Amino acid sequence: MEIALETKGLSKTYRGLRKVRALEPLDLAVESGTVFGLLGANGAGKSTLVKTILGICRATTGYAHIFGVDSRNPEARQKVGYLPEGTHFARYLSGRNVLEYFGQLAGLTGARLREQVALKLKLVGMADWADKKVSKYSKGMRQRIGLAQAMLGDPRLIILDEPTDGVDPEGRHHIRDLIIKLGKEGVTLFLNSHMLSEVESVCQEIGIMYQGRLLKRGKVREILDEMSMRDGKYQLVFRTGPMPQNLPPVLAGATRDDHGFSIAVADREEIPRLVDALRDSGVAIYGVEQHHASLEEAFLRLMDDGNHHGVGGRQ
Ligand SMILES: Nc1ncnc2c1ncn2[C@@H]1O[C@H](COP(=O)(O)OP(=O)(O)OP(=O)(O)O)[C@@H](O)[C@H]1O
Ligand SMILES: [Mg+2]
Repeated sequence: MEIALETKGLSKTYRGLRKVRALEPLDLAVESGTVFGLLGANGAGKSTLVKTILGICRATTGYAHIFGVDSRNPEARQKVGYLPEGTHFARYLSGRNVLEYFGQLAGLTGARLREQVALKLKLVGMADWADKKVSKYSKGMRQRIGLAQAMLGDPRLIILDEPTDGVDPEGRHHIRDLIIKLGKEGVTLFLNSHMLSEVESVCQEIGIMYQGRLLKRGKVREILDEMSMRDGKYQLVFRTGPMPQNLPPVLAGATRDDHGFSIAVADREEIPRLVDALRDSGVAIYGVEQHHASLEEAFLRLMDDGNHHGVGGRQ
């Protein structure tokens, strides 16, 4: 399998008045064709990682490869589309002008430039606004122009830093569909985001950053499965009719609620035993399901663990 993006011992310490170890040495590989989401609280180091990968920030140690080429080599960066965090464009230009300008920087000219610009404007839903000045755009519209800019020339790797920042729900939905579509076309996407539900719906793989370190990394499904278990136990939710005052002994440890109870079991094979015991007690069972953690729940728990165990700690 081809690796689209790889870092080895990549780190960044900002040296200003105060030294900030924004990124601890990081090894990361993202396979070609993956939609990868990087999560983390404000200041975790997500933007620093992206900027250091692209050589916008000089790495303190280590290096990054883009499709096997050192990212300090301009040839490597030509293969990447990038939407920086909080983009600002010249306000007196129209959206189309902005894209033409960036398209030229990316080496597009003539008919191909015009065609690419028109195509990407349409893709982000800005065709009708293309000839209005950027100063008239809302934040979400500027963000869409930024996204179109990152797609110019059909790069095989697109890095998006907070692509839906400031975009309204409809626009976010649109961008989400666009990311899914690009992913299906085989484009590798790397996105930084705070929008956990969005990441959950578009990304196959995620990384969770905490204080400059990658706390967790893997397939979304696997991380959610792992986080759905607590202390090695499955959480089951039973929906039942009225329950007797004295619960059968197998239900020791269950937590009652208005609609039934929830219980932790070490083995799913315990489900039939529980069902039998409930039926013997005359309880009607309307449903049983395993509790699945959302990415939001998983993220908050990981952050909580990180805080308690003092992971990282910047100097
Ligand atoms: N140019 C800089 N000079 C000094 N410190 C910086 C600089 N840029 C970022 N930092 C610091 O590095 C750390 C990581 O910042 P970074 O912007 O990478 O975080 P982030 O995860 O992208 O956060 P957010 O979610 O808010 O975008 C923070 O402590 C930040 O204050
Ligand atoms: Mg950031």
